[in-house]
Amino acid sequence: MPEPLDVLEALHSTPARRYLSDAPIPDEIVRDILDAAVRGPSGGNTQRWAWIVVRDPEVKAKIAEFYLEGWDKAYGVNREKILADPEGMSAASFNAADHLANHLAEAPVWIFPVLLGAAKSQNPRLGSSIYGAVQQLMLAARAHGIGSTLTTLYMAHEPEVRTLLGLPDDALTMALIPLGYPAKGRWAQPKRRPLDEVVFFEKFKTP
Ligand SMILES: Cc1cc2nc3c(=O)[nH]c(=O)nc-3n(C[C@H](O)[C@H](O)[C@H](O)COP(=O)(O)O)c2cc1C
Repeated sequence: MPEPLDVLEALHSTPARRYLSDAPIPDEIVRDILDAAVRGPSGGNTQRWAWIVVRDPEVKAKIAEFYLEGWDKAYGVNREKILADPEGMSAASFNAADHLANHLAEAPVWIFPVLLGAAKSQNPRLGSSIYGAVQQLMLAARAHGIGSTLTTLYMAHEPEVRTLLGLPDDALTMALIPLGYPAKGRWAQPKRRPLDEVVFFEKFKTP
């Protein structure tokens, strides 16, 4: 059973966890986490989704290569530039993301939330029918002491990933969430811009 965890406390202490151990996660815990995820919302409660649990080392190794390629292209080669930018990522975040990119396959369980019939969608709000449930997944994992990160850097290889996961042609993976018991770091409050910079009353820019 997970430790009792106040909902608001969980909301304030669930950062991305990118240093994960390879210790296995029991099946019933994975099931419990997914059971909490699917309680999340979808438009009209259509639940046009699938949740693919990946543990197969061969599949993980292939997709981890795609991910590392995506990381290197977008971030790895730009390390100096990103770290020199005061608005950019902190060195700690960069190093953690770099670590995940190089150790992704070690996370014992991966979850791909998938939207069915979504591959050609033009709906800009498409993700709203699954990302609420994805956040529930990450919070349920947190309740079990399991860390996670919502990731997408494999996405340039969506067709190959679709084939590896045996998905229909019109399905779209919405993320890859590596799950694992944290190997380093803590359940700290995520840093965000101050509320007064982003919350407005009645009209945009009215504090
Ligand atoms: C759409 C989306 C895509 C993301 N893709 C990645 C990714 O590919 N790799 C990664 O390490 N983090 C990824 N993240 C995680 C964000 O970097 C993270 O949520 C953000 O830095 C805040 O982290 P914090 O909650 O630990 O403060 C993604 C988040 C979102 C919402």
